Amino acid sequence: MRAFAGIDVGSLCTKVVILRGEEVLSWSLRRTGADPVGAARRCFDEALARAGLQEGELGGVVATGYGRLRIPFASRQVTEITCHARGAHFLFPKTRTVIDIGGQDAKVIALDERGKVLDFVMNDKCAAGTGRFLEVMAQALEMEIEEMASEAANALKAVPISSMCTVFAESEVISLVAEGSRRDEIVWGLHRAIARRILGMAKRLPMKGEVTFTGGVAKNRGMVRALRELLGIPLNIPHEPQIVGALGAALLASSTSPSVRAAERLKI
Ligand SMILES: Nc1ncnc2c1ncn2[C@@H]1O[C@H](COP(=O)(O)OP(=O)(O)OP(=O)(O)O)[C@@H](O)[C@H]1O
Ligand SMILES: [Mg+2]
Repeated sequence: MRAFAGIDVGSLCTKVVILRGEEVLSWSLRRTGADPVGAARRCFDEALARAGLQEGELGGVVATGYGRLRIPFASRQVTEITCHARGAHFLFPKTRTVIDIGGQDAKVIALDERGKVLDFVMNDKCAAGTGRFLEVMAQALEMEIEEMASEAANALKAVPISSMCTVFAESEVISLVAEGSRRDEIVWGLHRAIARRILGMAKRLPMKGEVTFTGGVAKNRGMVRALRELLGIPLNIPHEPQIVGALGAALLASSTSPSVRAAERLKI
């Protein structure tokens, strides 16, 4: 059986997944930086080496993410919306809503029982409600992002944050620190503010079935807590949420390859 690859060139991080059948052979992740093609090449080579494969042995490569159109070694490009939906549905087949929070945008996607996209809402106009927003706030508070996430996950109270604009929220945080507010209560307030914004997006779609949270921000336990509390329902969190888009791309590469389609027709 041939292996297939999915490459997600995100605005912040590039992810590669190599799949054979339903088994993930390897994956890799690195910052996209100022050279998305170079980052994709290095990430791809790393994943190939981990899987013990040569590029020529792959049955196909699907690229997704904001840099997908620039990847010379991809056989096809698919939008992130479709790939996140496909990846989340593969991991949690009862998923009907996907929340993807990445470095630079946030999306809520509604899917059908087969993992096909029905509708979506996306915020890609500003950093509000994305990983970048949290990174700016962590910098203002002189904390690592992981430390901020863990304080948010354990805080007992939230300081209400009124600004959602990244620049205004940063000034608000600096004023709160100056006034003597507790740092854990500020960060919990920030996480709740993002969750409220995501909830506002989600309300524009039919929220049925299970909700799966993907993207790098799903690794943030504070964000998981805020979304769980505000949505009031359980959330599926993949073991590696940041590679779900690349996983979906790899699944699409394998399910649309001519040999797989022929096998499906012959029921082998
Ligand atoms: N352990 C972690 N805790 C908290 N946040 C994390 C963690 N790991 C990654 N992140 C956040 O995840 C974000 C990157 O996620 P992801 O790789 O899904 O984004 P992307 O696909 O590059 O962006 P986009 O989809 O917006 O183009 C960053 O903002 C980063 O701070
Ligand atoms: Mg992304």
